[in-house]
Amino acid sequence: MSTQVRRPGAAAGVGAEDASTPWGIALEGVTVRYPNGTVGLNNVSLDIPPGSMVAIVGLSGSGKSTLIRTINGLVPVSSGVLRVGGATVSAARPGALRALRGEIGMVFQGFNLAGRASVLQNVLVGRLAHTPLWRTLLGAYRPADREIAYEALDSVGILHKLYARASDLSGGQQQRVAIARALAQQPKIVLADEPVASLDPPTAHGVMRDLRRINTERDLTVLVNLHLLDLAREYGVRMIGMRAGEVVYDGPAATATDRDFERIYGRAIGAADSLGGDASRERGVQ
Ligand SMILES: Nc1ncnc2c1ncn2[C@@H]1O[C@H](COP(=O)(O)OP(=O)(O)OP(=O)(O)O)[C@@H](O)[C@H]1O
Ligand SMILES: [Mg+2]
Repeated sequence: MSTQVRRPGAAAGVGAEDASTPWGIALEGVTVRYPNGTVGLNNVSLDIPPGSMVAIVGLSGSGKSTLIRTINGLVPVSSGVLRVGGATVSAARPGALRALRGEIGMVFQGFNLAGRASVLQNVLVGRLAHTPLWRTLLGAYRPADREIAYEALDSVGILHKLYARASDLSGGQQQRVAIARALAQQPKIVLADEPVASLDPPTAHGVMRDLRRINTERDLTVLVNLHLLDLAREYGVRMIGMRAGEVVYDGPAATATDRDFERIYGRAIGAADSLGGDASRERGVQ
Protein backbone atom coordinates (compact mmCIF):
# COMPACT_ATOMS: atom_id res chain seq x y z
CA MET A 1 0.00 0.00 0.00
CA SER A 2 1.76 3.10 -1.24
CA THR A 3 1.20 6.45 0.36
CA GLN A 4 3.49 8.21 -2.05
CA VAL A 5 1.99 11.29 -3.63
CA ARG A 6 2.89 11.95 -7.18
CA ARG A 7 2.05 14.85 -9.39
CA PRO A 8 -1.32 14.02 -11.01
CA GLY A 9 0.22 14.55 -14.44
CA ALA A 10 2.71 11.79 -13.71
CA ALA A 11 0.09 9.08 -14.16
CA ALA A 12 1.39 5.72 -15.31
CA GLY A 13 3.73 7.06 -17.93
CA VAL A 14 1.29 9.77 -18.94
CA GLY A 15 2.47 13.36 -19.34
CA ALA A 16 0.15 16.13 -18.10
CA GLU A 17 0.43 17.77 -21.49
CA ASP A 18 -0.91 14.72 -23.25
CA ALA A 19 -4.55 15.78 -23.21
CA SER A 20 -5.71 12.75 -25.15
CA THR A 21 -4.80 10.14 -22.57
CA PRO A 22 -7.50 9.56 -19.98
CA TRP A 23 -6.96 8.43 -16.41
CA GLY A 24 -8.18 5.42 -14.53
CA ILE A 25 -9.56 5.40 -10.99
CA ALA A 26 -8.95 2.78 -8.32
CA LEU A 27 -10.50 2.50 -4.86
CA GLU A 28 -9.24 -0.10 -2.42
CA GLY A 29 -11.41 -0.50 0.66
CA VAL A 30 -12.28 3.20 0.73
CA THR A 31 -14.37 4.39 3.65
CA VAL A 32 -15.54 7.99 3.97
CA ARG A 33 -16.84 9.11 7.34
CA TYR A 34 -18.19 12.65 7.54
CA PRO A 35 -17.29 14.78 10.61
CA ASN A 36 -20.75 14.15 12.08
CA GLY A 37 -20.12 10.40 11.99
CA THR A 38 -22.24 9.56 8.92
CA VAL A 39 -20.61 6.92 6.77
CA GLY A 40 -20.83 8.11 3.15
CA LEU A 41 -18.82 5.25 1.65
CA ASN A 42 -18.30 1.93 3.38
CA ASN A 43 -15.30 -0.14 2.31
CA VAL A 44 -15.72 0.52 -1.41
CA SER A 45 -13.37 -1.16 -3.89
CA LEU A 46 -13.60 -0.29 -7.59
CA ASP A 47 -11.32 -0.44 -10.58
CA ILE A 48 -12.33 1.96 -13.36
CA PRO A 49 -9.97 1.67 -16.34
CA PRO A 50 -9.07 4.73 -18.44
CA GLY A 51 -11.69 5.53 -21.08
CA SER A 52 -14.59 3.91 -19.18
CA MET A 53 -18.18 5.12 -19.32
CA VAL A 54 -19.79 4.41 -15.96
CA ALA A 55 -23.28 5.15 -14.65
CA ILE A 56 -23.69 5.25 -10.87
CA VAL A 57 -27.21 4.60 -9.62
CA GLY A 58 -28.83 4.25 -6.22
CA LEU A 59 -31.44 5.67 -3.90
CA SER A 60 -31.13 9.12 -2.40
CA GLY A 61 -28.45 9.05 0.28
CA SER A 62 -26.80 5.89 -1.07
CA GLY A 63 -23.44 7.65 -1.57
CA LYS A 64 -23.36 8.58 -5.26
CA SER A 65 -22.32 12.20 -4.73
CA THR A 66 -19.92 11.19 -1.97
CA LEU A 67 -18.19 8.84 -4.40
CA ILE A 68 -17.81 11.60 -7.00
CA ARG A 69 -16.68 14.20 -4.47
CA THR A 70 -14.17 11.76 -3.01
CA ILE A 71 -12.67 11.00 -6.42
CA ASN A 72 -12.38 14.75 -7.01
CA GLY A 73 -10.56 15.20 -3.70
CA LEU A 74 -13.32 17.35 -2.20
CA VAL A 75 -14.15 14.84 0.52
CA PRO A 76 -11.25 13.21 2.39
CA VAL A 77 -10.83 9.45 2.51
CA SER A 78 -11.09 8.17 6.11
CA SER A 79 -9.46 4.82 5.37
CA GLY A 80 -8.40 2.83 2.34
CA VAL A 81 -6.54 3.92 -0.78
CA LEU A 82 -7.82 6.04 -3.67
CA ARG A 83 -5.73 6.43 -6.80
CA VAL A 84 -6.68 8.75 -9.62
CA GLY A 85 -4.36 8.62 -12.59
CA GLY A 86 -0.92 8.23 -11.03
CA ALA A 87 -1.78 10.14 -7.86
CA THR A 88 -2.63 8.56 -4.53
CA VAL A 89 -5.41 10.98 -3.63
CA SER A 90 -6.01 9.45 -0.20
CA ALA A 91 -2.56 10.65 0.90
CA ALA A 92 -2.33 13.87 -1.10
CA ARG A 93 -1.63 17.34 0.31
CA PRO A 94 -3.92 20.30 -0.46
CA GLY A 95 -1.60 21.58 -3.24
CA ALA A 96 -1.63 18.20 -4.97
CA LEU A 97 -5.42 18.02 -4.64
CA ARG A 98 -5.76 21.41 -6.33
CA ALA A 99 -3.59 20.18 -9.19
CA LEU A 100 -5.70 17.03 -9.40
CA ARG A 101 -8.92 19.03 -9.62
CA GLY A 102 -7.45 20.94 -12.55
CA GLU A 103 -7.40 17.64 -14.44
CA ILE A 104 -10.97 16.61 -13.57
CA GLY A 105 -13.94 18.21 -15.30
CA MET A 106 -17.05 18.49 -13.12
CA VAL A 107 -20.65 18.78 -14.28
CA PHE A 108 -23.45 19.40 -11.77
CA GLN A 109 -27.22 19.17 -11.68
CA GLY A 110 -27.52 22.95 -11.21
CA PHE A 111 -25.05 23.81 -14.03
CA ASN A 112 -23.04 26.19 -11.77
CA LEU A 113 -22.57 28.85 -14.44
CA ALA A 114 -21.97 32.56 -13.92
CA GLY A 115 -25.39 33.64 -15.18
CA ARG A 116 -24.51 37.25 -16.05
CA ALA A 117 -21.35 36.28 -17.92
CA SER A 118 -21.29 35.23 -21.56
CA VAL A 119 -21.14 31.64 -22.69
CA LEU A 120 -17.55 32.19 -23.86
CA GLN A 121 -16.48 33.67 -20.51
CA ASN A 122 -18.02 30.71 -18.71
CA VAL A 123 -16.18 28.21 -20.90
CA LEU A 124 -12.88 30.08 -20.56
CA VAL A 125 -13.15 29.45 -16.82
CA GLY A 126 -12.26 25.88 -17.78
CA ARG A 127 -8.84 27.19 -18.85
CA LEU A 128 -8.09 28.64 -15.39
CA ALA A 129 -6.03 25.71 -14.19
CA HIS A 130 -3.84 26.07 -17.27
CA THR A 131 -3.57 29.89 -17.23
CA PRO A 132 -1.10 32.04 -15.28
CA LEU A 133 -2.80 34.11 -12.57
CA TRP A 134 -1.91 37.48 -14.15
CA ARG A 135 -3.60 36.50 -17.41
CA THR A 136 -6.70 35.42 -15.52
CA LEU A 137 -6.81 38.70 -13.58
CA LEU A 138 -6.48 40.73 -16.77
CA GLY A 139 -8.88 38.49 -18.67
CA ALA A 140 -6.05 38.18 -21.22
CA TYR A 141 -6.74 34.67 -22.42
CA ARG A 142 -4.41 33.39 -25.11
CA PRO A 143 -5.77 32.83 -28.61
CA ALA A 144 -5.06 29.13 -28.08
CA ASP A 145 -7.36 29.15 -25.03
CA ARG A 146 -10.11 30.75 -27.08
CA GLU A 147 -9.65 28.12 -29.76
CA ILE A 148 -10.01 25.38 -27.15
CA ALA A 149 -13.19 27.08 -25.84
CA TYR A 150 -14.66 27.37 -29.36
CA GLU A 151 -13.89 23.75 -30.09
CA ALA A 152 -15.50 22.64 -26.82
CA LEU A 153 -18.65 24.65 -27.55
CA ASP A 154 -18.77 23.33 -31.08
CA SER A 155 -18.56 19.75 -29.88
CA VAL A 156 -21.74 20.19 -27.83
CA GLY A 157 -23.51 22.10 -30.61
CA ILE A 158 -23.81 25.59 -29.12
CA LEU A 159 -20.99 27.54 -30.71
CA HIS A 160 -23.62 29.94 -32.08
CA LYS A 161 -24.43 31.02 -28.49
CA LEU A 162 -20.89 32.26 -27.86
CA TYR A 163 -21.85 35.78 -26.76
CA ALA A 164 -25.22 35.02 -25.20
CA ARG A 165 -25.64 35.54 -21.47
CA ALA A 166 -25.55 32.16 -19.80
CA SER A 167 -28.76 32.89 -17.89
CA ASP A 168 -30.60 33.52 -21.16
CA LEU A 169 -30.11 29.91 -22.28
CA SER A 170 -32.45 26.97 -21.73
CA GLY A 171 -31.56 24.36 -19.12
CA GLY A 172 -30.27 21.93 -21.72
CA GLN A 173 -28.15 24.62 -23.34
CA GLN A 174 -26.78 25.70 -19.96
CA GLN A 175 -25.80 22.13 -19.20
CA ARG A 176 -24.02 21.95 -22.56
CA VAL A 177 -22.10 25.11 -21.64
CA ALA A 178 -21.13 23.42 -18.38
CA ILE A 179 -19.94 20.36 -20.32
CA ALA A 180 -17.99 22.63 -22.70
CA ARG A 181 -16.40 24.33 -19.67
CA ALA A 182 -15.35 20.91 -18.38
CA LEU A 183 -13.97 19.98 -21.81
CA ALA A 184 -12.04 23.27 -22.05
CA GLN A 185 -10.09 22.04 -19.04
CA GLN A 186 -8.81 19.28 -21.33
CA PRO A 187 -9.56 16.95 -18.45
CA LYS A 188 -8.42 13.38 -17.92
CA ILE A 189 -11.74 12.49 -16.30
CA VAL A 190 -15.25 13.96 -16.40
CA LEU A 191 -17.41 13.51 -13.30
CA ALA A 192 -21.08 14.42 -13.65
CA ASP A 193 -23.33 14.53 -10.57
CA GLU A 194 -26.93 14.11 -11.73
CA PRO A 195 -26.33 16.26 -14.82
CA VAL A 196 -29.79 15.65 -16.26
CA ALA A 197 -31.93 15.60 -13.12
CA SER A 198 -33.32 19.11 -13.80
CA LEU A 199 -34.03 18.50 -17.48
CA ASP A 200 -37.06 17.16 -19.34
CA PRO A 201 -36.61 13.65 -20.80
CA PRO A 202 -35.77 14.60 -24.43
CA THR A 203 -33.27 17.23 -23.28
CA ALA A 204 -31.83 14.75 -20.78
CA HIS A 205 -31.25 12.29 -23.59
CA GLY A 206 -29.49 15.01 -25.63
CA VAL A 207 -27.10 15.80 -22.77
CA MET A 208 -26.48 12.08 -22.13
CA ARG A 209 -25.70 11.59 -25.82
CA ASP A 210 -23.15 14.42 -25.56
CA LEU A 211 -21.49 12.78 -22.57
CA ARG A 212 -21.43 9.42 -24.31
CA ARG A 213 -19.94 10.98 -27.45
CA ILE A 214 -17.27 12.73 -25.39
CA ASN A 215 -16.43 9.34 -23.90
CA THR A 216 -16.13 7.58 -27.25
CA GLU A 217 -14.67 10.33 -29.44
CA ARG A 218 -12.19 11.69 -26.89
CA ASP A 219 -11.74 8.38 -25.11
CA LEU A 220 -12.36 10.26 -21.85
CA THR A 221 -13.16 8.48 -18.61
CA VAL A 222 -16.73 9.57 -17.76
CA LEU A 223 -18.60 8.85 -14.50
CA VAL A 224 -22.24 9.93 -14.33
CA ASN A 225 -24.55 9.80 -11.32
CA LEU A 226 -28.09 9.13 -12.47
CA HIS A 227 -31.50 8.80 -10.92
CA LEU A 228 -33.04 7.23 -13.99
CA LEU A 229 -32.30 3.57 -14.48
CA ASP A 230 -33.32 3.66 -18.12
CA LEU A 231 -30.72 6.34 -18.81
CA ALA A 232 -28.13 4.21 -17.04
CA ARG A 233 -29.14 1.26 -19.19
CA GLU A 234 -28.94 3.26 -22.39
CA TYR A 235 -25.79 5.29 -21.82
CA GLY A 236 -23.89 3.56 -19.05
CA VAL A 237 -21.83 0.75 -20.46
CA ARG A 238 -20.97 -0.20 -16.91
CA MET A 239 -23.36 0.35 -14.04
CA ILE A 240 -22.38 0.70 -10.41
CA GLY A 241 -25.29 0.32 -8.04
CA MET A 242 -24.91 1.83 -4.57
CA ARG A 243 -26.86 1.29 -1.41
CA ALA A 244 -26.06 2.66 2.04
CA GLY A 245 -22.53 3.61 1.00
CA GLU A 246 -21.72 0.20 -0.45
CA VAL A 247 -21.38 -1.09 -4.00
CA VAL A 248 -24.16 -3.67 -4.42
CA TYR A 249 -23.96 -4.04 -8.21
CA ASP A 250 -21.08 -3.62 -10.60
CA GLY A 251 -21.48 -4.89 -14.13
CA PRO A 252 -22.95 -4.27 -17.56
CA ALA A 253 -25.88 -1.85 -17.38
CA ALA A 254 -27.77 -3.59 -20.15
CA THR A 255 -27.94 -7.00 -18.53
CA ALA A 256 -28.78 -6.10 -14.91
CA THR A 257 -31.58 -8.36 -13.72
CA ASP A 258 -34.64 -7.67 -11.56
CA ARG A 259 -32.71 -9.23 -8.70
CA ASP A 260 -29.89 -6.72 -9.22
CA PHE A 261 -32.38 -3.85 -9.13
CA GLU A 262 -33.89 -5.30 -5.99
CA ARG A 263 -30.46 -5.25 -4.38
CA ILE A 264 -29.92 -1.61 -5.39
CA TYR A 265 -33.40 -0.27 -4.60
CA GLY A 266 -34.47 -2.57 -1.85
CA ARG A 267 -37.39 -4.06 -3.73
CA ALA A 268 -38.42 -5.29 -7.16
CA ILE A 269 -38.47 -2.59 -9.79
CA GLY A 270 -41.59 -4.10 -11.34
CA ALA A 271 -43.64 -3.37 -8.23
CA ALA A 272 -44.28 0.27 -9.10
CA ASP A 273 -47.24 0.63 -6.76
CA SER A 274 -45.38 2.04 -3.79
CA LEU A 275 -41.78 2.34 -4.85
CA GLY A 276 -40.01 5.14 -3.04
CA GLY A 277 -37.40 7.62 -4.18
CA ASP A 278 -35.52 7.21 -7.43
CA ALA A 279 -37.26 4.09 -8.64
CA SER A 280 -40.70 5.63 -8.63
CA ARG A 281 -39.40 8.78 -10.30
CA GLU A 282 -37.84 6.64 -12.96
CA ARG A 283 -41.09 4.83 -13.59
CA GLY A 284 -42.94 8.11 -13.76
CA VAL A 285 -40.71 9.73 -16.36
CA GLN A 286 -39.94 6.87 -18.69
N1 LIG B 1 -21.42 17.01 4.12
C1 LIG B 1 -22.01 15.97 4.71
N2 LIG B 1 -21.95 15.82 6.04
C2 LIG B 1 -22.53 14.77 6.65
N3 LIG B 1 -23.17 13.76 6.00
C3 LIG B 1 -23.25 13.86 4.67
C4 LIG B 1 -22.68 14.96 3.95
N4 LIG B 1 -22.92 14.77 2.63
C5 LIG B 1 -23.61 13.61 2.53
N5 LIG B 1 -23.80 13.07 3.75
C6 LIG B 1 -24.49 11.80 4.06
O1 LIG B 1 -23.79 10.77 3.38
C7 LIG B 1 -24.72 9.82 2.83
C8 LIG B 1 -24.54 9.76 1.33
O2 LIG B 1 -24.94 10.99 0.77
P1 LIG B 1 -24.76 11.36 -0.76
O3 LIG B 1 -25.02 12.82 -0.90
O4 LIG B 1 -23.45 10.85 -1.23
O5 LIG B 1 -25.93 10.50 -1.43
P2 LIG B 1 -26.50 10.51 -2.90
O6 LIG B 1 -26.57 9.10 -3.34
O7 LIG B 1 -25.73 11.45 -3.74
O8 LIG B 1 -27.99 11.06 -2.70
P3 LIG B 1 -28.94 11.94 -3.67
O9 LIG B 1 -29.47 11.00 -4.70
O10 LIG B 1 -29.99 12.46 -2.75
O11 LIG B 1 -28.09 13.03 -4.26
C9 LIG B 1 -26.10 10.28 3.27
O12 LIG B 1 -26.43 9.60 4.45
C10 LIG B 1 -25.92 11.76 3.54
O13 LIG B 1 -26.82 12.23 4.49
MG1 LIG C 1 -26.24 13.18 -4.78
